[in-house]
Amino acid sequence: MLTVKEAIEKRRSIRSFKPDPVPDALLHQIMEAARLAPSGSNRQPWRFQIIKEGSLKQQFMKEATFGQAVLANAPVIIICGSEMLTFVKRHKLAPPNSEYYGAETEDPEELKKFIPDANMYDAIAITHMTLMATALGLGTCWVQSIKPGAAAKVLGWPRHMTVFTALALGYPAEDPPARDRSSMETILIKEGQKPV
Ligand SMILES: Cc1cc2nc3c(=O)[nH]c(=O)nc-3n(C[C@H](O)[C@H](O)[C@H](O)COP(=O)(O)O)c2cc1C
Repeated sequence: MLTVKEAIEKRRSIRSFKPDPVPDALLHQIMEAARLAPSGSNRQPWRFQIIKEGSLKQQFMKEATFGQAVLANAPVIIICGSEMLTFVKRHKLAPPNSEYYGAETEDPEELKKFIPDANMYDAIAITHMTLMATALGLGTCWVQSIKPGAAAKVLGWPRHMTVFTALALGYPAEDPPARDRSSMETILIKEGQKPV
């Protein structure tokens, strides 16, 4: 198992996978990494659906994506979205002491205001998953180019749940070099300096 530093440095977006199935024990560790992610007020809005080979995967590809080869190629697709009722004040799915922040009602229009927060929390969980997968010798590709509305329809998710993104998962069939990153000088604003 890699250290956190090693996993951060080794992780790549993998777009070509071996057909080998992902063992359930490893899948469990990846989902556990998601479950343990932090979120504002410990709200944990994230929900996941694991899609493996089968007709649902085909239907998802056809109706809810723009034909991403990376998803067609992956033995596992993990759909990630949010249970927006976790943002309703005092709702049974909301965290304790939820009355200070959230929606007053379950009205989907009101809940829409909280989607950016939900997406942010989901993104933390997905990041945990990508790093855990790397540490376990698996590869992932975060695929945002999906059709969330169509995805919710294919999966039968209700209106109070949003689909945020899809994660392709499997054993890598490629070993791409590290992709470019901005330099530390570019991203770090020195103390006392104003960005121009
Ligand atoms: C939020 C997000 C959305 C992304 N969406 C896609 C996508 O739709 N299709 C794809 O092939 N890669 C997608 N990627 C992968 C990025 O292209 C990739 O992370 C970036 O080019 C850096 O490469 P690396 O992940 O190998 O370091 C996405 C990554 C993130 C974090």
